[in-house]
Parts: sequence; structure tokens; C-alpha cells
Amino acid sequence: MRLKDKITLVTGAGGGFGEGIARAYVREGARVVVADLNGTAARRVAGELGEAAIAIEGDVRLGADVQAMVEAAVQRWGGLDVVVNNAGTTHKNQPMLEVDEAGFDLVFDVNVKSIYWMMQAALPVLRRQGRGGSIINIGSTAGIRPRPGLVWYNGTKAAVNIMSQCMAIEVGPENIRVNSICPVIGATGLLEQFMGLPDTAENRAKFLATIPLGRMSQPSDIANACVWLAEDASSFITGILLPVDGGRTA
Ligand SMILES: NC(=O)c1ccc[n+]([C@@H]2O[C@H](COP(=O)([O-])OP(=O)(O)OC[C@H]3O[C@@H](n4cnc5c(N)ncnc54)[C@H](O)[C@@H]3O)[C@@H](O)[C@H]2O)c1
Repeated sequence: MRLKDKITLVTGAGGGFGEGIARAYVREGARVVVADLNGTAARRVAGELGEAAIAIEGDVRLGADVQAMVEAAVQRWGGLDVVVNNAGTTHKNQPMLEVDEAGFDLVFDVNVKSIYWMMQAALPVLRRQGRGGSIINIGSTAGIRPRPGLVWYNGTKAAVNIMSQCMAIEVGPENIRVNSICPVIGATGLLEQFMGLPDTAENRAKFLATIPLGRMSQPSDIANACVWLAEDASSFITGILLPVDGGRTA
């Protein structure tokens, strides 16, 4: 049990990578707040995980909702040790001028402003406890080695990556660690939008050709990295951008 008794909060945990992270956390002994815009999905995941999980429906674009996610952890289990800012979205892969203002605002609000709200809500709790903490942001290889057609999305992930490093410097003296995990493309609900193409074997092959290990990322890959960055074994690791990418950014 690598995360025994750690109190964790995972956003976007109703599916995709976030569900995989929540499942791995419970398997390793943590308690987890499963937060998602899709309340039905959050309740399904938490229900399957049993006593160690609770569901909360909320929108990471809204400060009050993010506050409620943190309060859910504090009320249910008395504190908070680990936050995974995983909820994210993208615009369709397309030329940059075809993304309208609403599409631009959506990706920046969900992927970037959410982290502002989460720090506003979680940092005071971590500071009050005085036992450190681990913030894990799901960035992307998109913020390191961008693909065409995703200009604004790539910009959000570059922001997530650099914000993670800057936050790590600022809160390091309080033993609060902040790291960014950078997955390569994975077969989640966002896949077709990332590819801008139907999900066929032929279209997948174009992306696989750019990944030395020859496959897409899976929720378990991201979850394994999230377990490591949450556990005490990574207590000297902060401010890193950790590609989980089969060599894509090498
Ligand atoms: N799938 C990939 O190829 C890939 C690659 C690199 C990074 N990422 C990142 O991984 C993270 C997880 O994405 P995924 O691929 O699992 O996608 P997904 O669509 O399968 O899951 C995202 C989850 O976030 C939730 N969500 C969306 N908007 C929300 C909001 N405003 N408030 C609360 N919850 C919200 C959704 O309901 C969904 O359950 C995202 O940050 C994404 O950018 C994904």
C-alpha cells in the first residue's frame, strides 16, 4: 500500500485518465474524492470503489465548485494530501482561425484557470495542516512537442507545464510539491478531437508512427506515474515535467 491513508482529490475522475488515477489511488490505500462535471460518471466510479471514495459533481471552471471539491475531502476525511488536476478538454484538431472565441475560452478555462481555482482552494488547507502535500497537474507532451492543428490546446498545456514549475518553486519551502505529468496521445474520450479524424486503425497509425514504443498511452500508464508522484518515495521530486509518452519527446 504505497498511499496508505493519504487523502486525495482527482478532478475529471468520471472517466479516461482520471478514472484510472482514482482506481490506482484506492488500490494503493488512499481515500479519493472523485470530482467530475458529469455527476453520473463520478458516482459510478466512486460507487465501484466503495468506502474509500466519494463522488462530487462540479465544474472546475467555477471557483465555488472547486472549493466544494476541497471541502468534500476535508469534511469526509479531515484533510487533504494530494490533488490531481486532471480535468481537461480540447478543441477539435483544426486550423487555428477556425476555433471561435467560445472554443478558445473553454480550453483555457477548463485546462488553465481551473488550476488557479484549485490553488486558491487547496493551498490554504495544505498550509494549515503543515504536513506538506503533492499537487499533480496533467499537462501534456502537447506543451513540449506540439502537433499541428491544436494551437490553443497546446498553449494551455504549455501553461500548465510552466505554472507547475513556477508553483513548485514558490511552495517548495513549505514541503508542498508540484509536478506536471505529460501524457502522449491516449485512447480516451478526447481521441477523435485530438486527431481531428475518425478513430480508425489507419488514422491511429499516423500517430503511432511518432511514438517510439509504438502504442498510445493508457490510463494505467498515467495512473502509475500519479501514484509515484503522490507517494513518499518521490518526496525529493518537485518542479518536473514527466513525459509518459513512449519516447515521443525524446
Ligand atoms: N487523451 C489524451 O490523448 C491526452 C494526452 C495528454 C494529456 N491529456 C490530458 O489528460 C486529462 C484527462 O483527459 P482524458 O484524455 O482522460 O479525457 P476524457 O474526456 O476521457 O476525461 C476528462 C474528464 O474530465 C471531465 N471534465 C471535463 N470538463 C470538466 C469540467 N469543466 N469540470 C470538471 N470535470 C470536467 C469530463 O467529464 C471527463 O470525465 C486532460 O487534462 C487532457 O488534456 C490527454
